[in-house]
Amino acid sequence: MSKITWKGSALLAPVPVTAVTCGEGDEANIITVAWTGILSSNPPKTYVSIRPERHSHGLITKTGELCINLVPSLLCKKVDWCGVRSGRDVNKFDAVKFTKEPCTQIRCPQIAESPLTLECKVTDVLHLGSHDAFICDIVAVNADESIVDEKGKLHLEKAGLAAYSHGEYFALGKKIGSFGYSHNKKRTKKSR
Ligand SMILES: Cc1cc2nc3c(=O)[nH]c(=O)nc-3n(C[C@H](O)[C@H](O)[C@H](O)COP(=O)(O)O)c2cc1C
Repeated sequence: MSKITWKGSALLAPVPVTAVTCGEGDEANIITVAWTGILSSNPPKTYVSIRPERHSHGLITKTGELCINLVPSLLCKKVDWCGVRSGRDVNKFDAVKFTKEPCTQIRCPQIAESPLTLECKVTDVLHLGSHDAFICDIVAVNADESIVDEKGKLHLEKAGLAAYSHGEYFALGKKIGSFGYSHNKKRTKKSR
């Protein structure tokens, strides 16, 4: 394989497309975020990287809380809209008809229509350049009943999630294996 080399750039793909809720009460807002991921399993830690000029940056700085709402393909267009309009000018919950639902551990609302949400408390902020990374503890996870079976097992594959790759959205497709399927290794909590 012959490769062309470019200077370093933010070309990791696919990444999740998420709808991050922030702020409280009438100030609550939604920002579309692709620069997010897991930093640690135990304690469960995540980050969202947000440009200081975003309205949401100020809201998160003020409250120290946010909620990461995962996005099914069917809601992707609404979430894209939240990523091209500012909460300074418009109430995005009303505009895209997402329902504010209270969280359990934080005051910021979650999106009722999202199948899985992570309630997060900010513990650190890294000022990296174009973006500030808000490092967070994941203090609760809320899953829609439709993706949890009677034994309490999560079936995230039923959520029909979307992914983001180099400026384009994709519906997650065919399952091609599961953790350790190359040698029948069972996934344990420790191995993640
Ligand atoms: C697919 C997609 C991914 C985005 N990812 C990020 C991101 O990771 N960080 C960020 O600061 N802005 C990101 N944006 C841009 C913000 O969502 C956008 O500027 C939004 O209008 C900011 O809203 P606010 O001013 O209400 O906070 C993304 C936009 C889209 C459409």
